[in-house]
Amino acid sequence: MAFQGFDLTGRVALVTGGTSGLGRAIAIGLAQAGAKVVVGSRNPDKIQATVEELLSISDGHSGLNLDVANIASIEAVFCNLRSEQPQLDILVNSAGTTQKKDPLELTLAEWEHVLRVNLTGTFLCCQAAGSWMKEKQSGSIINIASLASYVGLSEVSAYGASKAAVAQLTQSLANDWAQFGIRVNAIAPGVFPTDLNRALLSGTPRGEWFKNHTPMRRFGEASEIAGAAIYLASPAASYTTGEVMVVDGGFLASGVGPHP
Ligand SMILES: NC(=O)c1ccc[n+]([C@@H]2O[C@H](COP(=O)([O-])OP(=O)(O)OC[C@H]3O[C@@H](n4cnc5c(N)ncnc54)[C@H](OP(=O)(O)O)[C@@H]3O)[C@@H](O)[C@H]2O)c1
Repeated sequence: MAFQGFDLTGRVALVTGGTSGLGRAIAIGLAQAGAKVVVGSRNPDKIQATVEELLSISDGHSGLNLDVANIASIEAVFCNLRSEQPQLDILVNSAGTTQKKDPLELTLAEWEHVLRVNLTGTFLCCQAAGSWMKEKQSGSIINIASLASYVGLSEVSAYGASKAAVAQLTQSLANDWAQFGIRVNAIAPGVFPTDLNRALLSGTPRGEWFKNHTPMRRFGEASEIAGAAIYLASPAASYTTGEVMVVDGGFLASGVGPHP
C-alpha cells in the first residue's frame, strides 16, 4: 500500500499571500495534496486568477480579501472563514514585503511597515488561527522565515529583523501551543525570484553573488517550496514542531565552496 502520510484530503487551509510567488506555489501544492484552500491577499484580480487555477485542480477552493497589516481585515477574514468552514487545519503565513535601503536612510514608516506586515501580521494570523485550532485541539501553522532570519543580507535590515523574529515566534508558539494539539513550524526559503525580489536579482550583481554562494549554483523555483509545506502540514509531520526548515540550495550550509 502507498504511503498515506502526505494526504491532506478533507483538510482546510488558509494561505495568506497565497496569490503570488511562494504562497501561490504552496496553495497549489496543498490543493494537489487534497486540501481545500482559501487564499487571502489584497489584489482581487490576483485572488480570482489563483482561485481559478486551484479550481482546475479540484473543487471547493476560494479566496478572500485580506490585508495582514490591518487587524480589522484579519478579524473579518476569520469571521467569514468560521461561518463557512467547519474547521481550519492549516495556516500558511506567506504574506510578506521587503524594503531594500541603506539602514541609515530607512524611515520610521518604512521600518514599521515591514515589521507590521511580516511580523505583526504573521502573529495576528497565528493568534486568530490558534484560538480556533485550540477549540479543535488540532492544527498546523507554517510561517515563512528567510535566510535573513540567520544571516545579514545587505540593505534589508527591517526585513532581516522581521524574519529573525518570525523564526523565534515560531518556536515560542510551538512551545506554548503543543498542549493544544497545534504544531507551529516555519520554512526558511533561500533565493526564489518572485514579484518580491525579481528586480533585485535578475541580471544584477546581487543576483550573481547569491548564485555564486549557493552550492547548487541556481535560484529556487517556487514549485520547489511546496513539498516542505505539504510535509509540515501533513500527518507525516505529527511529531515535528518548532522547526524552521531551510530550503535554500545549500546556501546556509556553505562555508568555502568547491571553487575557493
Ligand atoms: N522569494 C524569496 O526569495 C523569498 C525568500 C525568503 C522568504 N520569502 C518570503 O516568502 C513570502 C512570500 O514572498 P514571495 O517571494 O512569494 O513574494 P510575492 O510574490 O511578492 O508574494 C507576496 C504575497 O503577499 C501578499 N501580500 C503582501 N502584502 C500583504 C498584506 N499587507 N496583506 C496580505 N497580503 C499581502 C501579496 O499579495 P497582494 O500584494 O496582492 O496583497 C502576495 O500574494 C514572504 O514572506 C517573503 O518574505 C521569500
